[in-house]
Amino acid sequence: MGPLNVIATVRRARRLVGEVRLPGDKSVSHRALILGSIAEGESRFRGLSTGADVGSTASCMRALGVEISDSSVRGAGMNGLRKASSALDCGNSGTTMRLLAGLLSAQPFATELRGDDSLSRRPMDRVVTPLREMGAAASWPPLVVGGRTPLRGIDYEMPVASAQVKSALLLAGLFAEGQTSVLEPVATRNHTEVMLMAMGAEIRIDGRKVEIRRTARLSPLDIDVPGDLSGASFWLVASGLVGGSHLRIRNAGTNPTRTAFLDVLRACGFAIAIEGAHSAGGEPVGDLSAGPTSELRPVTVGGALAAQMIDELPVLAVAATQLRGTSRISGAAELRVKESDRIATMAEGLAAMGADITALEDGWVINGPRHLEGAHVESHRDHRVAMALAIAGLLADGTTEIEDAECVDISYPGFFDQLESLC
Ligand code: S3P
Repeated sequence: MGPLNVIATVRRARRLVGEVRLPGDKSVSHRALILGSIAEGESRFRGLSTGADVGSTASCMRALGVEISDSSVRGAGMNGLRKASSALDCGNSGTTMRLLAGLLSAQPFATELRGDDSLSRRPMDRVVTPLREMGAAASWPPLVVGGRTPLRGIDYEMPVASAQVKSALLLAGLFAEGQTSVLEPVATRNHTEVMLMAMGAEIRIDGRKVEIRRTARLSPLDIDVPGDLSGASFWLVASGLVGGSHLRIRNAGTNPTRTAFLDVLRACGFAIAIEGAHSAGGEPVGDLSAGPTSELRPVTVGGALAAQMIDELPVLAVAATQLRGTSRISGAAELRVKESDRIATMAEGLAAMGADITALEDGWVINGPRHLEGAHVESHRDHRVAMALAIAGLLADGTTEIEDAECVDISYPGFFDQLESLC
């Protein structure tokens, strides 16, 4: 993120029309760089995320001695990482910090992983505890891992639904003696598993359980990174709520572990179609066609469903302000430990714009439809909050000003240019 505090100005949209080009999927891009770094040979990628979070992963891997260009990684092999000369800087990226905690806990050298103020406040015990069970040297805070090998495989039942924790343990499991199994409370995004399979790892999936064995060699990757469906979520809500809109969102990843949000929007009455479905790099992709809706029903999201669409909940809260009736979103206490406390920051922003929103410990109750008025709102330097409030701004009268709007660069560089071009 740049040093500038950019204030973005958004006005009511009359309609949104055109074609959306999504950034490369953030989750897939992190994994491509990390797994490519320990493969044997050169991996090639088209469409990697250019967001700052994936940039953090790239610079950490470079600091560990890996050669990385914009579209390729020269894999160092399973034993080729070198100790970095100083602490690794994970910036704002939880995925970088947690996945690398898993990978680096299995290395013969110790590494310290640091982050910005937001990341330094986020919970890391959820990776440290199981890594220690595997015999790793791991402590937090500050997060320091590695230097005691070999790890041993464990059977781990995850208390929190988290693809980052699952992935960290699978990365450690690649190096551990015996077998490591991870049982998730809810099936979370499976990009790590998909990629590891394609690379020839000894991995087996049985429902919500993933088993992995020590792997001597991973084949390099050659993949087209799908467009980021979480980035598409903002446009889906906007085009459904701004009358006369029609958007075509190109090349969105439609991995079923990511599409719960589409099902929920459709159940509310949003018209969303997937066209030209095909597979790229082992992941399903397609174009999304989205337009305005008429009869909109309120939304109820809780439990497993909340976990499966955790990144889309801020913009779902925006949608709920325009749905007729009471929407309830619960089971989402994890939102409190994201880049900001998203339950609080979204409630604050939407209330300032006139929404009827009550924050719960684990979600919100939102009554709609409410007339929104433009306001001066804080992003709290949280990319998804900034983008969700921008969509609220498209639905509001007057002008909405969003503080620290440059934070959208974390996952969606060019978001505001795209917004302008569609209006
Ligand atoms: C991610 C997992 C999720 C998600 C984050 C990306 C990943 O976090 O919110 O944006 O790429 O594995 P948790 O694992 O904390 O649920």
